[in-house]
Amino acid sequence: MATSDHGLMIGMMIAFSLASLVSADPELLQDVCVADLASGVKLNGFSCKSNISVDDFFFAGLANPGLTNNTFGATVTPASVQQITGLNTLGVSMARIDYAPGGLNPPHTHPRATEIVFVLEGELNVGFITTDNKLFSKTIKKGEIFTFTRGLIHYQINNGKVPAAVIAGFNSQLSGTQRVANAVFASSPPVDDVVLTNTFQVGTKLVEKIKYRLAPKK
Ligand SMILES: *[C@@H]1O[C@H](CO)[C@@H](O)[C@H](O)[C@H]1NC(C)=O
Ligand SMILES: *[C@@H]1O[C@H](CO)[C@@H](O)[C@H](O)[C@H]1NC(C)=O
Repeated sequence: MATSDHGLMIGMMIAFSLASLVSADPELLQDVCVADLASGVKLNGFSCKSNISVDDFFFAGLANPGLTNNTFGATVTPASVQQITGLNTLGVSMARIDYAPGGLNPPHTHPRATEIVFVLEGELNVGFITTDNKLFSKTIKKGEIFTFTRGLIHYQINNGKVPAAVIAGFNSQLSGTQRVANAVFASSPPVDDVVLTNTFQVGTKLVEKIKYRLAPKK
């Protein structure tokens, strides 16, 4: 190998190992970069708009409980870059999750963020599953905190008799949420039944039933 190739290889290895140290959104390069959600310019994040105001950094949407009269009895109210455009490039966001008694935030992952939840009200059973399929679960109550590692499947359920609520923090402006069941049973176009009958070791009828139940409501 020529010396210059060797130098290039070492340079690339250093660049890769530095990149692997960045475990959340990239560092910002200016004070603010308020997202221009309407811009057609696509980059890693949103392009910055020039005409900004204090309200680009403000959101009142987590002040009140979200409605929980849905299939799962729980609702996530996001406070991400899509609601607070001033979060663009800042690498943080929040959400509020409300749970009716029995309410479930079903197993899901956040591909771009670790999550930390603080219980506002009530009591929840929470859990995450590691890549070797080990479950870590615990009951948490008002004032307590729990964390979910970026990318790992996790859930929360309100086994109590009163409503529960948490505030969640994320180390990404847009953590992304992928619900396990909806991803495989309610994608568009749908995943072939044979993939799901083999994966879950059940018959086509049951797969079709789950697909029907989870289909996005029109
Ligand atoms: C900037 O925003 C303010 C408030 O929305 C508006 O009154 C003003 O016309 C805008 N200026 C430009 C140059 O777009
Ligand atoms: C939930 O309740 C709200 C207000 O009470 C109502 O407007 C909405 O239609 C309900 N949603 C469902 C899915 O029942």
